[in-house]
Amino acid sequence: MMLCRFLILLLLIVLSNGEVIRVDLNRRILKNSQLQRTEGLTKPKHLQSGTQPYGDFSDMLYIAKIGIGTPAQTFELVMDTGSSNIWVVDKATCQTLDCKGDNRNMFNKTKSSTLKSLNKDLEIDYGTGSVKGHAYSDTVEITGTGISIKNQDLLLAYSVDDTFRHQPIDGIFGLSWPAAAEGLNAPINGLSAVLDQHLFTVYMKRLGSSSYNVIEDGGAITYGAIDTNNCESEISYVNLVEDMNSRYYWQFNLEGLSIGDYSYEKNQQAISDTGTSFLVGPQKQVDNIYQQIGAFYDTDYGLYVLECDKISGLPSLNLKIGGNLFAIPPDQYVLQFNSTDTYCIVAIQTMDAGGPDWILGDTFIRSYCNIYDIGGQRIGFAKPKATAATKPKDNSASLSTLQPFVFVIIFIISIVIKL
Ligand SMILES: *[C@@H]1O[C@H](CO)[C@@H](O)[C@H](O)[C@H]1NC(C)=O
Ligand SMILES: *[C@@H]1O[C@H](CO)[C@@H](O)[C@H](O)[C@H]1NC(C)=O
Repeated sequence: MMLCRFLILLLLIVLSNGEVIRVDLNRRILKNSQLQRTEGLTKPKHLQSGTQPYGDFSDMLYIAKIGIGTPAQTFELVMDTGSSNIWVVDKATCQTLDCKGDNRNMFNKTKSSTLKSLNKDLEIDYGTGSVKGHAYSDTVEITGTGISIKNQDLLLAYSVDDTFRHQPIDGIFGLSWPAAAEGLNAPINGLSAVLDQHLFTVYMKRLGSSSYNVIEDGGAITYGAIDTNNCESEISYVNLVEDMNSRYYWQFNLEGLSIGDYSYEKNQQAISDTGTSFLVGPQKQVDNIYQQIGAFYDTDYGLYVLECDKISGLPSLNLKIGGNLFAIPPDQYVLQFNSTDTYCIVAIQTMDAGGPDWILGDTFIRSYCNIYDIGGQRIGFAKPKATAATKPKDNSASLSTLQPFVFVIIFIISIVIKL
């Protein structure tokens, strides 16, 4: 069986002294019917849980530290709930500038005593280009938490496409469902086997201009527990759609949305995706949202913008999920990077066709803690605590020292091809 999904997968924006280049690629997503081992999903086990800080890069990209091998080699990976494989670059076989990136950490195979070859090569296609590699298993640890997974399947890349060249990441850690891992055992299986509760909580901060081009403390991922430090105790859960064995994404029904005088009330499919920077939805609805907030297309930015001084007067965007309304405030869906800027970027994008109707990326996840409940096959949303800083800091004093910066927006939904 082959299913085709068509999605905008990656949007790379380079802002350099006001000049913007945008790479926006559509690719076809294939899916095969191979089912994954899911034995880890049902057994309660070793009672582990832990929290690690999230690094925030320009409010566009949230990364975490992961150790691979014995002894552990440390990487900064996008923890991506929109895909289901782990990959990092193989130092021995990936030698191009695209592989090396800007000082990318690469894996040295000879240094790990626990690495095992799985005797197959795979290509993971993220739409902007792909990563090709050899499949291995090795010990993977969530740095700083004591949580470690033995014999976790992963890909060591021998080739990465040029779109990854300047992305400030060492690789990707997929946290979506096993069906999307296509031939490898998904990390959520490995995690479920060692976690106290089969769930994880994502809490993302908005740091605004302070996080330009640098990694700052941008939130937390809590594995095996609900994050009660940063999130309110009242959680609204909604069941995931589709049978678990064919489930690709953290996907659920979006019952409607409204903003200002516009409302749309029809069931749609949405996914929660930490690897996507923005909210991404169908053209008509997004156009109506733009209209309500007075956003207009800016050819320099290649994005929709509005005057920054209008942000405080804008209405919230309300999403209806599981009968509850979730409000995304204007200071989350409009990004002001520089307090002296006249125009601000609207963190809502359109998507062409296929796949889920809406991708609820970081714009949404910053507004609500997301609880990815693997065992319960549901997703929960909770308000971040008022004490937890989710508003941008005013760091205008440091702006003058900043260099041209790169924004990366990744819509990650993988296809894996056996080579
Ligand atoms: C991997 O580590 C070994 C031992 O430290 C070193 O000799 C080798 O050069 C490294 N390999 C690469 C590709 O850097
Ligand atoms: C912010 O705006 C000021 C004034 O226009 C400018 O000097 C500064 O370079 C800007 N910072 C960034 C990061 O673009």
